[in-house]
Amino acid sequence: MAAIKELKASGLDVEQFIKDRAKEISEAVGDGVAINALSGGVDSCAVTMLGHKALGDRLKTYFIDNGIMREGEPQKVVALFKGLGVHVEIIDAQDKFFDAMKGITDPEEKREAVTQTFYKDVFGKLVRESGAKHLLQGTILTDVDETVAGIKRQHNVFEQLGIDPQKAFGYKIIEPLIQLRKDGVRKVAEACGLPEAAYNRIPFPGPALAARVVGEATREKIAIVRKATTIVEDILGNTGAFQYMGILHEDKVTGMRDGKREFGNQIEVRCWDSIDARTATPTNVPYETLRKLADRMVNEVPGVVSVTYHIATKPPSTMEVV
Ligand code: XMP
Repeated sequence: MAAIKELKASGLDVEQFIKDRAKEISEAVGDGVAINALSGGVDSCAVTMLGHKALGDRLKTYFIDNGIMREGEPQKVVALFKGLGVHVEIIDAQDKFFDAMKGITDPEEKREAVTQTFYKDVFGKLVRESGAKHLLQGTILTDVDETVAGIKRQHNVFEQLGIDPQKAFGYKIIEPLIQLRKDGVRKVAEACGLPEAAYNRIPFPGPALAARVVGEATREKIAIVRKATTIVEDILGNTGAFQYMGILHEDKVTGMRDGKREFGNQIEVRCWDSIDARTATPTNVPYETLRKLADRMVNEVPGVVSVTYHIATKPPSTMEVV
């Protein structure tokens, strides 16, 4: 692979970068159609804005509703982009994702089920049927580094989409952010008009809330962890921490409510200080804040009788639980 020239955020001429990338996209696609998937993360948000600057409505942007996103996420993302003049189509694929995860308890198999359903089944089908010859992807330099180092699975997107590049001759992937790291992408996203809530958003994993349920990710368990996540983000949103999350454990524990024994759920709260997610330390959250979290969890999340705070560092812990 030819070396990619890094553009550091500190020296980045953002306006020029946006102009150059928009011109390149426009020249590559010509008068054809391109397609991209928007997840609501900063990379795909920035690519969507760049692509629409270049192509207008000849870029078809899809939000795949996999059923494992945070509360109201598909609607929030669509509304955000509508306000910026960009149409995003939601594809309801919830059943497909839950069917694919049915009965799976192994963490890696669960991640694989989410990935395969996205690439091979849902988005792959959209790409194949769209007639688009170009695919816009939010790959950043860190993704490339991790691929080369063997940390992440090979980013062979065609293969992941179930497309044989030989047969589908003419398909091209455009990766306008490939020279940037996250801090550079945040600058581009800001300059493209995205609000701070979008360009400074905390990271969220590809397997979404399924990475925060120990054991099988059923609709019921996802609903519980989704509520817990909303509370964690509400209360820890002003800590300045790198990332914070709620986790649903598989084990039940004995509690009591209204004078009766309740064999209920336990939620673990994690809040991390980190620079690049490679190592991380639990945030020193004030005890009063932790107590507030616990009170809201047991009152607002059905069946929760136990709330714990995670205090081990990464490594050997990881940030997500799955
Ligand atoms: P871990 O759990 O590996 O997470 O310590 C490190 C950081 O990466 C995020 N993460 C993911 N991001 N796809 C992603 O795009 C994934 O499969 C994935 N798994 C973990 C995690 O949220 C944390 O910021």
